[in-house]
Amino acid sequence: MATVHNEAKKGDIAKVVLMCGDPLRAKFIADNYLSEVTKVNQVRNMFCYTGDYRGKKISVMGSGMGVPSMGIYVHELYDHYDVDTVIRVGTCGSFSKDVKVRDVIIAMGACSDSNYASEFELNGTFAPLATFSLLDIANTVSRSMKLDYHVGNILTSDVFYHEPNYSYKKWSNLGVLGVEMETYALYLKAAKFNKKALTILTVSDNLETKEETTSEERQSSFNKMMELALEVAYLDD
Ligand code: HPA
Repeated sequence: MATVHNEAKKGDIAKVVLMCGDPLRAKFIADNYLSEVTKVNQVRNMFCYTGDYRGKKISVMGSGMGVPSMGIYVHELYDHYDVDTVIRVGTCGSFSKDVKVRDVIIAMGACSDSNYASEFELNGTFAPLATFSLLDIANTVSRSMKLDYHVGNILTSDVFYHEPNYSYKKWSNLGVLGVEMETYALYLKAAKFNKKALTILTVSDNLETKEETTSEERQSSFNKMMELALEVAYLDD
């Protein structure tokens, strides 16, 4: 049995799934870090691979960009495929000179300019959070890997190309570390299904200092983040 967006059979997808925006990044992770890999989804080229990481079954899948795309795929993973844990690995823009390009951000919570939670008809706003057990493992592993990392709040935005008068300062004034486009949906769906979720990001650009990374630097910092995410997936039970 499959879903509208995923042709994998139940059981083809592991209990823990790493998700990255770009499906070809998912292929890169499967090719470089997993053994005995099977491609279990290619609907819309949103590839999902399942393989072995140090004796543990792990899947890695694309999420696409933005809240609606992440919302669809993660909903189906939690609801239909009985996935317990989703770890998003991605990039973000930093709001602060102290959060430098190539640093890692572990997202404790996600603010948003998205209207996605209106579906729940709450009498207020919801604060989507990471799962503490995953956050705790990620903190310990990051420290032992001696990574330059930050744990805190991020912004999930619906907009990549803002109008010229847009300012992120109102978010950074509240301590929000940086911006990406998917975590709010991930944490909201994890809350809905009482499942586990964590987002780990590398800073690809700094909106404050305008510093950017070269593609080689992006690749090597991405690899470090992957090793962290795989270790968290491995230690998650
Ligand atoms: N905005 C939104 N998403 C991002 C950015 C950004 O500046 N950088 C990396 N992902």
